[in-house]
Amino acid sequence: MANIKFFSGKTTPIEMHRVRIIQKLNLLPINERLEAMQQAGNNTFLLKNADVFLDMLTDSGVNAMSNDQLAAMSQADDSYAGSATFYRLEKALRHVFGMEYFLPAHQGRACEHVLSKTFLKKGQVVPMNYHFTTAKAHITELGGEILEIPVKDAFDMTSTCPFKGNLDIAALKQIIAERGREGIGYVRMEAGTNLIGGQPYSLQNLREVSKLCRANGIPLIQDVSLLSDNLHFIKQREAACKDMSIHEIALAMAEASDILYFSGRKLGFARGGGICTASRQYYLDIRGFIPLYEGFLTYGGMSVREMEALAVGMYETLDEDVISQGPQFIEYMTNELIKHNVPVVTPPGGLGCHLNARDFLPHLKPTEYPAGSLASALYIISGVRGMERGTLSEQRNEDGSEPIAPMELVRLALPRRVFTMSQIVYTVDRVNWLCQNRHLVGGLQWLDEPRILRFFYGTLEQIGDWQQRLVAKFREDFGDSL
Ligand code: F0G
Repeated sequence: MANIKFFSGKTTPIEMHRVRIIQKLNLLPINERLEAMQQAGNNTFLLKNADVFLDMLTDSGVNAMSNDQLAAMSQADDSYAGSATFYRLEKALRHVFGMEYFLPAHQGRACEHVLSKTFLKKGQVVPMNYHFTTAKAHITELGGEILEIPVKDAFDMTSTCPFKGNLDIAALKQIIAERGREGIGYVRMEAGTNLIGGQPYSLQNLREVSKLCRANGIPLIQDVSLLSDNLHFIKQREAACKDMSIHEIALAMAEASDILYFSGRKLGFARGGGICTASRQYYLDIRGFIPLYEGFLTYGGMSVREMEALAVGMYETLDEDVISQGPQFIEYMTNELIKHNVPVVTPPGGLGCHLNARDFLPHLKPTEYPAGSLASALYIISGVRGMERGTLSEQRNEDGSEPIAPMELVRLALPRRVFTMSQIVYTVDRVNWLCQNRHLVGGLQWLDEPRILRFFYGTLEQIGDWQQRLVAKFREDFGDSL
C-alpha cells in the first residue's frame, strides 16, 4: 500500500492510477428519477444505466481495466480448441495459485453449477461461512442444504472484529460429528464474504478449516471471487502475515483448499470465471461438465479477449497498490458516513460500503423490505444506484413464508478503479440528507414475485405515496439542484 503522507495531516486515500478513458455521466432531474424508479418496479436491477448517475449496484464486470489489459486483449487467439490465449491464462493462474489444473467457465455461478453437480448429492449439506445468492440457489436446486456457520461477530453490524468472515470451527466440528462424511457434500469458504458486507477471513481460520476437512476427507472449496480484498485485509490485519508478500498469502490460501473457483467479473478486473485445483482426481471429476454446460476446455464459454484481460488482471491482483485502492476508498466513505451518524457496517470491508437499512429505517417492518425501500429512495434522491442485500434477496421457504434475512443491507459497491473522490463526497452528502429525512421513507410490496432469484427481476410498488413526499422535501431543500 503506497505510503503517502499529507502535509496537512489529512488521511485521504489517493488513486495510484490515472484516468485515460472516460464515460460521460448523466444525472436526471429528480422527477424523472422518480418515474424511472417506479417504471423499474423499485428494483434497482431493472433501471436503465442511462438513467443512473453513479452506478454502485455491483463491482461485477464493471471494474476499470488497465492499459496492459486492453493491450493484451488484441492478441487474443480465437480458435475453438487449443487457443494460445487459454495457455496464457492457465499460466497466470498457475503462477498466482500454484495449482496445476484450470477449468474455464463463463462466470462464477457457472462454476457453482458445475461444482455442486460434481460434489453434491441430494440430502447432503454444505457448511459455509456464509452463502452467496447464486451458490445457495445451485445447492438447493439439487436438493442440498446450506448450513451457515460464521463466527458470531459476522452479524454484529458495528463490530470491530477484523475477520467477520471467519468460520466457527466448533460448529463445523459438530456438523461433522452429527452428519459424518457421507452427509456433507463439501465445505465452502467465501473470501471477502459478500453478503455480510465484504468481510474477510484470516489465513489462520482458513487453515483450521482446512485441517478439519482434510482429517475427515471432505473437499474444501474456496470461492475466491473477492480474493483481492481478502488478500489486502490479511496483509493489513493479520499480524502473522504482515511480512508476507501478497503473492505468498495467495499461495498459502490456495494451498489450504482443494478447489478454488472465481467470478472473473470480480477477480481479475475482467469477465468470465473458472475453477482451479491441484488434484488430478478432482480435475477429472469436474471436467466432463465443462464441455457439456460451458464450452470446450480451452474457453469454457468465455470470450478469448476477456481471457487475455483476465490473465493480466490476475498478475495485477498481486500488486498491493492495485488491490488496496478499493478497500481504502470504502474505509474513507464508511468513516465519513459514521461522522454523520449514518448506520453502516463496520469494520469497513471490501467490495463496497454497506448501509444498515434496519437501523436506517427502524420504523419499517421486515416484511416491508427496509433495504429495498432504502435502495429505491437513495436512487430517487441522488441518482446513485445501490443494491438491496437483505430479505428481498432471499428465496421464500418451501411453505411460502418469508425468511427474514439476518441483515438488511444496501450495498454501495465501489467497482475497482472507477470512482473519483468527489463522487464519493457527493454520495456521502446525499446519504446523509436521506438519513436526516428517513422518516419520509416507507415500505414496498410485491407487484410480481418470481420463484427463483426474485430480487433480480421481480417488481414492487411503494406502500402509500411516500416517494412523492420525499421528492417534495428534496425540492424544498435543494431548489433547482439536480
Ligand atoms: N461468488 C461471489 C462471492 C459473488 O459475489 C458472485 C457474484 C458470484 C460468486 C457469482 O459470480 O456473477 O460471475 O456469476 N456477485 C455479483 C455481485 C453478482 O453483484 O455481488 P458471477
